[in-house]
Amino acid sequence: MSDIILETRGLTKHYGGVQALDDANFILHAGEHVAVVGDNGAGKSTFVRQITAVEQRTAGQIFFDGKEVTHAGPLDAREAGIETVFQTLALADDLDVPSNLFLGREIFKFRLGPFSWLDRKAMRDRTMEALKTTAVKIPNVDNPIRNMSGGQRQCVAIARTAAFASKLVIMDEPTAALGVQETAQVENIIRGLKERGIPMVLVSHNLRQVFDLVDRIVVFRRGRIVASLRRDETDGNDIVSYITGVKGNADGAFA
Ligand SMILES: Nc1ncnc2c1ncn2[C@@H]1O[C@H](COP(=O)(O)OP(=O)(O)OP(=O)(O)O)[C@@H](O)[C@H]1O
Ligand SMILES: [Mg+2]
Repeated sequence: MSDIILETRGLTKHYGGVQALDDANFILHAGEHVAVVGDNGAGKSTFVRQITAVEQRTAGQIFFDGKEVTHAGPLDAREAGIETVFQTLALADDLDVPSNLFLGREIFKFRLGPFSWLDRKAMRDRTMEALKTTAVKIPNVDNPIRNMSGGQRQCVAIARTAAFASKLVIMDEPTAALGVQETAQVENIIRGLKERGIPMVLVSHNLRQVFDLVDRIVVFRRGRIVASLRRDETDGNDIVSYITGVKGNADGAFA
């Protein structure tokens, strides 16, 4: 049996005349943590949005957990086992922290036809547990998300992802808005996912973080994958030369 959890073949996305993602061939193995790096506008978030079905691709195929998939939308992808922290956060501003964590998968005390009763206590308890795994101090989880700082919101999203991680976790710049302590804590969460054998795609501009955490580094430039390198077979200078185009100008697929 193949140990490939995620594969894209020829994945392509155009926005009008902009080729944001061009023929991306990507493979993620079971338990593997891969970083996706590249300059601003290189196509990293576009790649994430196609895998998570936030957008529908222009061309190409996506294989997840052994079969070809066409998820109808992000909820569909999440139900299939893909948990994502998006670069632009997908949190509901008017809801409190527990409601955000359980959005779309609420715990009910009972459900009978049109009648249902949310189990607020169970959701709040699990929320507190999930937040404990991040160092973030949220003064009151019962406040609406809109009153929280960028870093606090980010930590809510990360706590949600870690709490529900099932088959694959994707994080797009999870620590860009975080302080030193919170960043360290999120990196610990990522190490925890690795220990649990949960595969991950980590989009990050922070090469120190990337080299600390992942098994393999995939470089995007101008919508194309230009390198795929094992962490122990490359270094920061090498990666930077792929990011900037000093290396890796030849066409070709990497996996
Ligand atoms: N909805 C959209 N409509 C038109 N163009 C878009 C859209 N989304 C992204 N693009 C363009 O696609 C390209 C890739 O953008 P993308 O957001 O994937 O980059 P990125 O690698 O995630 O960059 P960053 O590191 O800044 O987050 C950019 O040129 C961007 O302007
Ligand atoms: Mg991005």
